[in-house]
Formats: sequence, structure tokens, C-alpha cells
Amino acid sequence: MATRRVILLPGDGIGPEIAAPTVELLDAVAPAAFEFEEHLVGGASIDAHGTPLTDETLAACRAADAVLLGAVGGPRWDTTDPSRPRPEQGLLALRKGLGLFANLRPVRPVPALYDASPLRREVIEGTSLLVVRELTGGIYFGEKTRTEDMASDDCVYTRAEIERIARVAFRAARSKVTSVDKANVLETSRLWREVVLDLHAREFPEVELEHVLVDNAAMRLVAAPRDFDVIVTENMFGDILSDEAAMLTGSLGMLPSASLGNELPPNHPDSTPGVFEPVHGSAPDIAGRGIANPLAMFLSAALMLRHGFGLEDEAAAIESAVDRALADGLRTPDLGGDATTAQATRAVLQHL
Ligand code: IPM
Ligand code: MG
Repeated sequence: MATRRVILLPGDGIGPEIAAPTVELLDAVAPAAFEFEEHLVGGASIDAHGTPLTDETLAACRAADAVLLGAVGGPRWDTTDPSRPRPEQGLLALRKGLGLFANLRPVRPVPALYDASPLRREVIEGTSLLVVRELTGGIYFGEKTRTEDMASDDCVYTRAEIERIARVAFRAARSKVTSVDKANVLETSRLWREVVLDLHAREFPEVELEHVLVDNAAMRLVAAPRDFDVIVTENMFGDILSDEAAMLTGSLGMLPSASLGNELPPNHPDSTPGVFEPVHGSAPDIAGRGIANPLAMFLSAALMLRHGFGLEDEAAAIESAVDRALADGLRTPDLGGDATTAQATRAVLQHL
């Protein structure tokens, strides 16, 4: 197996605590397959360089085969002063800089955790859905203005941006695509709906398509999550709905994500490196105590193997080791237990 170059961005808070065992796990699943190069991002980079993402780090990510990220942010760098750097800007600049428009967030509650979810077992049983979130457009990246008494954030989408993310969703669908928008109010949503309908008629007439307003989608996600297969939506709706969907798995500490930039096969020379990161944040409240749940980051590493490198067997090996460790009783504090990060890592390694 050729060596793949992975940029490791542990970031802030629990990031470094879950990044280190993830490297250990990757070395166990595919010995000597990866070469890791570590860089700072987020608050750690602000402290060292005054900016949450340096040009050097972005260039290193561009030149690598994949990027594995922990989490960014923390109260130390919280500010409402627009002139001061924020850790999250590093993440946004990385996504934009690498052109990672497609964010995949698979939500598949593990049977062993059915009772860890705040929702009843009968509601979540059998859920397996994928949130496909547009990641480089919309209100996150529109023009911002600010005066003493007024502020604005523009939400802009082009036909091309909508079409490419919708195509990712249709390709990933097993049975149905649910396109989520707010077409009863927002002009961007009306364009969104029109483009999704056009693409569906032209390229994917065999896939079932439904349109759901975002408020209704939020309700249906907890009332009947089994009804969803692939949910495709714009940047901010996807941000909100994916945190909500994470609770179906019992904890935000379980949800991995893959951010991809083009539709080339993983090993193609022009393929953009993807960023693979847990959906959860840096959890400053528990940072430094060795009790963070590393499973979302392990599962993000599995997504890197699958989507970044086409290593399906190795990806599945990690996922099944995680499932079996949980079935065996592994519970970190976020899942109601008392396992430490080190114990969780050992449990998963044992089942690999
Ligand atoms: C996420 C996070 C980020 C986002 C933040 C940290 C900027 O919430 O990846 O979901 O809003 O995209
Ligand atoms: Mg979020």
C-alpha cells in the first residue's frame, strides 16, 4: 500500500486528546500506510501565529492526501469583536480554501446505544440517514456588514452550487432524497427547489424526491427519523439539523463527518483532499481530563479511509470494532458511563 500523507489538525480543547488515539487506531488498522504531519489550527494557531489558519497550514493541507481534524474553539478565544480572530474562522477558511462543498454526516444509531438516546427506542430503531450539507455557500460566506446599531449577513446561492450538492445527494441515495429548504419565505430556497427539481428530472428520475420545509424537517427528524434516507440542504440548515440528528445516536460524541471537494474517485491525482472531523466541538468543559469520547473521531477516520482513500475494508473494520466495543458495554461519560478516552481506545483496538 503506498504511503498516504495525512495532515493532522488536533485543534483545541479535547481535539488533541482524541486525535492522538485516532493516529494509534489508524496505525493499527493499516500499519505504515499513513504519514502524519501535525499543524496548528483554531485557537492554538491564534495563540502561536495570531491567525486561526496560516497560509503554510492551508498549503500543507492542499498538498496532502487528506486532513484529519479534531475540533476548534473555546471560551479563551470567544469574542464578539469583529476585528479579533476567532478559532471557527480557521475551519471555515479551510473548507473554503480547499473547496469542500459537500459535507456528509451519516447518522446511524448503534443498537447498543438505543437506550442512550433521549428519544424512545421505538422511535430511533432502524434509523439510517445521511445529511448532505452544502458547506461553502449561503449565509456563512455571504457579505457581512456591521455598524453600531445594525448588522447583516447575506445568503447567496448560485444554480451551479445547488446543482453540484444535489448531485452528491442523489448519488448517495438508496431510496429517497429529502430536500430541505424554506421556500415559503426565502428566495434562495425557491431557487434551491427549482434547481433540485430540474436535476432530478434530467439525471435521477428513478430516485424518489420530496421537498420539506426546514421547520417541518426539524420536527419529523425527532418524530419519525426512519422516514429519511438522504437529507440535502443548505449550509446553515444543515448545521442545525445535523446537531439535532446527532441526538438520535445518543450523543453528539458519536457523529463523524466527511467534507469533500470534488466528484473524482479518491485515488485520482487531481482529487481534492477531504477534511474528516467529528461533528462535535472542542468541549472545553471536559478538556484535559482524559474523559472525552473519541468515537466520533474514530468514525471520522473510517470515513477518511472510505471516501478519502477508497479503503472500504479498513473503514468497515473500524466501524465494526466501534460497534462491538459498545455492544460489550463501553460507555464514556457522555453516554452515561465512566470509561476514559484511553479505556475507550483500548476497547476499540481490542475489537479491531
Ligand atoms: C460544524 C460546526 C461549525 C459550523 C462551526 C464550528 C463553525 O458547528 O461543523 O457543524 O457551523 O459549520
Ligand atoms: Mg455545527
